[in-house]
Amino acid sequence: MKEIKKKTSEISVYNSENELEDNLFVLLQKAKNILSQSYSPYSKFRVGCALQLTDGTIITGTNQENIAYPSGLCAERVAIFSAGNSHPHTPPEIIAITAASEKGKVLHPPTSCGACLQVMDEYERRFGVELTIILSGESGEVYVAQGVKTFMPWRFDSDLVG
Ligand code: THU
Repeated sequence: MKEIKKKTSEISVYNSENELEDNLFVLLQKAKNILSQSYSPYSKFRVGCALQLTDGTIITGTNQENIAYPSGLCAERVAIFSAGNSHPHTPPEIIAITAASEKGKVLHPPTSCGACLQVMDEYERRFGVELTIILSGESGEVYVAQGVKTFMPWRFDSDLVG
């Protein structure tokens, strides 16, 4: 018999960043403020990320591109690997991600790429936590999601035996 298995996920949609809870708003501004440090001469698409740890530490990242395209790195992984390096024992709590383009206004929240989601998943598993994930374009709606599972409900899990 063919069985259909379904996993659903939910995202809270805010009409604008002004509707966010104060702490989420502040973290999103930190991600927006860092956009100028993006090195993105090839895509002209700037991504900024602000990651808050449970002790209140905030670590930021921006996308860093390279003439050999795959050698560049997304903002999320710059921030997460930096946090893993400088704060290896402090669990993460909230991650805010935003984008701006030199080609036109980013009016919709950008979802992280698969590789960044996979790295976020490892970061959650490592500490046994779920990240609050804030996604925002330059203006317009802001998404808030609980856990990487929202975007990768069927993500890889090596715990398959038994
Ligand atoms: N980018 C990120 O920084 N994060 C993502 O999750 C997806 C894409 C960057 C990579 C590249 O520098 C630019 O956005 C355009 O793809």
